[in-house]
Amino acid sequence: MKGYWWLYKGFEIRQNEAGQSKVFFKNYSADLESIARDNLTPVYVYNGDHIKEKVAIVRRAFDTYYDGDVAVNFAMKASHVPHVVRLLGQEGCGVDAASPNEARLGLRLGIHAERVMFTGTSVSNADIKELVSMGVRINIDSFSQLRRLVDLAERGELSCSPLPLSIRLNPDVGAITGQDFITAGARNTQGVPIKFGIEPEKILEVFEYARKNDLLVDTLHFHIGSGWLGIGIEAFRQALSNGLRVYRRLLESGFPLTRLDVGGGPGVRMEEKSESFPWDEYAKVIDVSLKEANIKLELLILEPGGGLVSDACVLLTTVNTVEKKYGIEHVFVDSGMGTFPSIRLDHRWCEFVNVSHPNGDIKEYAVDGNVCETGDTFTYNKLRPLPEVREGDVLALLDTGGYSLAQSFNYCLRGRAHVVLREGDYLVNCTRGVENLDEVMSRFTPVTSYTNLI
Ligand SMILES: Cc1ncc(COP(=O)(O)O)c(C=O)c1O
Repeated sequence: MKGYWWLYKGFEIRQNEAGQSKVFFKNYSADLESIARDNLTPVYVYNGDHIKEKVAIVRRAFDTYYDGDVAVNFAMKASHVPHVVRLLGQEGCGVDAASPNEARLGLRLGIHAERVMFTGTSVSNADIKELVSMGVRINIDSFSQLRRLVDLAERGELSCSPLPLSIRLNPDVGAITGQDFITAGARNTQGVPIKFGIEPEKILEVFEYARKNDLLVDTLHFHIGSGWLGIGIEAFRQALSNGLRVYRRLLESGFPLTRLDVGGGPGVRMEEKSESFPWDEYAKVIDVSLKEANIKLELLILEPGGGLVSDACVLLTTVNTVEKKYGIEHVFVDSGMGTFPSIRLDHRWCEFVNVSHPNGDIKEYAVDGNVCETGDTFTYNKLRPLPEVREGDVLALLDTGGYSLAQSFNYCLRGRAHVVLREGDYLVNCTRGVENLDEVMSRFTPVTSYTNLI
């Protein structure tokens, strides 16, 4: 079997007991095809060892190239599988929560409130009250949110005093990434107005309002967007420089800032032609920029999401049909846009491995899903070269641990996929299996009365 480019993501190829070459997670006894056969597909398989390795890579980079304390808050929107969040908590990560429920889940999993920060948009008064009552830190996204927090406090509607706040700055420069993943600047490149954070010209006013109302703000936050690689470092450096200019101005105006949160965004390599995220360079850029700005932080906060979990997971899916249509070889699998919404939302690149027959002759395929929509395809407008695929083969879709599973849905009543986590020598069931009809329908009340029907 040839040396595939993705092997470094925690895989190895070795012989199974029958002497066949198979794809394994490193140091794990069962190969991916047998995991699929034992667990029924579609099944997401997280590799806990690789998640730990990703956290270690981040920490090594900052231990080596950054001079100061760093907190790593996992962006739970990337994956709310509790077993995964718990594992990250055990590795010392806090949580970046995008909803009160994410904050609550973090607390339930044993992550201390001081290490949970909420950053969200469209934050209602009910959300504010709930977040304050949980004792988690709030990252203010709009002036309105801050005003309403003050109003609620004045009306005695908060159960306790809020923790020191963070304020989210829009640093003017967004990430170099897909349209929908740019979160800074006035508009994205397609003209969509950006809804996040407070623009630099208004930020002083917001800080002053907080001070006037006796609220301590100790953190400045920004996030430029998601899924960028080394090529995005220059945009990040510019955003950081804008952020640090604002930080310095605030210090000079007497605001006692001690912490900077640079958000998330570092992506993972999903194609052979791209490169891995340069964590060392990222740490150096932050260190050098802070020194140039003459700012010494008490704490630097990172909020990686996809970068910690995406390439630590495969989606295993079984081929049920192989058929030529208009001269194109189509492979149909038992998952689709419900199981893996990214194929519809951002048409992301899907790197498949034929884990049943990794050594066959290479052919080109369209890989299609089990939902009745033209866009329900994993290969969109570019066919994939794959070792010859037969009906019954298992395919592994790489880099699936971030976002897609969290966004999955059960359109056409195709149940959501099963999820398992490999921890050391064990495979832990994170769900009860592929969702069945009763589970899908469990949120609806029973249909008991047809009195209005003729
Ligand atoms: C505020 C904030 N922090 C962190 C993240 C995580 O981004 P990523 O998964 O690209 O690291 C996001 C993603 O949307 C975000 O909005």
